[in-house]
Amino acid sequence: MENSVRDILAIKEAMGSRLAILGHHYQSDAVIALTDIQGDSLELARRIGDLDAEHIVFCGVFFMAESAAILRRPGQKIHIPDTNATCPMADMADAGRVEAALNILQADGRTIIPLTYVNSSAAVKGVVGRFGGSVCTSANAATMLAWAMERGDGVLFLPDKHLAMNTANALNIPEGARVILPQGVIDGDPRLFIDPATVADKRLMVWPGYCPIHEKFSVQTVAELRTRNPDIKIVVHPECDPAVVQAADGSGSTTYLINYVTEAPAGSIISIGTEINLVSRLAKRFPDKTIKPLSLSQCDDMAKITTDNLAALLRGIETATPVEVDETIKTPARLALQRMLDACA
Ligand code: 13P
Ligand code: SF4
Repeated sequence: MENSVRDILAIKEAMGSRLAILGHHYQSDAVIALTDIQGDSLELARRIGDLDAEHIVFCGVFFMAESAAILRRPGQKIHIPDTNATCPMADMADAGRVEAALNILQADGRTIIPLTYVNSSAAVKGVVGRFGGSVCTSANAATMLAWAMERGDGVLFLPDKHLAMNTANALNIPEGARVILPQGVIDGDPRLFIDPATVADKRLMVWPGYCPIHEKFSVQTVAELRTRNPDIKIVVHPECDPAVVQAADGSGSTTYLINYVTEAPAGSIISIGTEINLVSRLAKRFPDKTIKPLSLSQCDDMAKITTDNLAALLRGIETATPVEVDETIKTPARLALQRMLDACA
């Protein structure tokens, strides 16, 4: 057994219920094996409020640890083994630009409710909370988009354009009522170009972000697989392009994908369009089914969490600096997250 794994197991044993290690499904097998709780973004966010542990270690990307730091109880400390594990999609929307966009979209007197995918910074969630909006995950996006639609004249969905459009398709929101906000670059910085005249009749305004990992899956691959094997089932994550989602047999959160494989009969051939760690783990867990990746796509940020940096964190956990969110951001961000947890209780 490697030294890091041995140390992690010994520290877990010594700390007992004072320590909880949470892991997202995209973590490596080596890390997942050392976690106490595994889940998708929604399940992990829900569990924070129930945990009694003093130290909660989040094996995932930074926005997940920040969400935990927003939802934690007083006295609890949230940690992440590598603070550089960020989500490139979350980084595509910053709080300043989100607030500026909301002010432009509401300049004509309309009420625009912002709905942010949980893959966003605490600062963005804070802006969303202040503007009366909420948060969604891939598991509850349809419920939360309907929630937001009921509360205003329109919705600003951010930052994932694909999740927005896939959810709008699921809710039958007419294409003519949606717009992806155009973006350009000025002096090296991304800028949105919002023309009030072209958004005035839209009910769903969409931030132009995307997940680079899920963008790699293509309709061409789906078609090739079906030609090679007419019996194959293809399921994908809703961060994929809408054309891929429409060509697939099903789409949903990481928990949906796990349940789909679990419930499929022995002998099934299933191709999955999501991060490779989860697909490989499912292939190992179900040797009586053929589980393949739609194509090989790894999230390099999720992979920044290793048994070595987890061990390093745990060795110094009593004095480690926890993930903190400034109170001015935390209060409205918690409101935004709580609206989601209440709507999906
Ligand atoms: P879910 O686990 O909520 O489906 O999220 C996928 C993801 O990309 C997390 O970064
Ligand atoms: Fe972000 Fe995509 Fe990685 Fe998830 S898989 S953390 S959405 S870049």
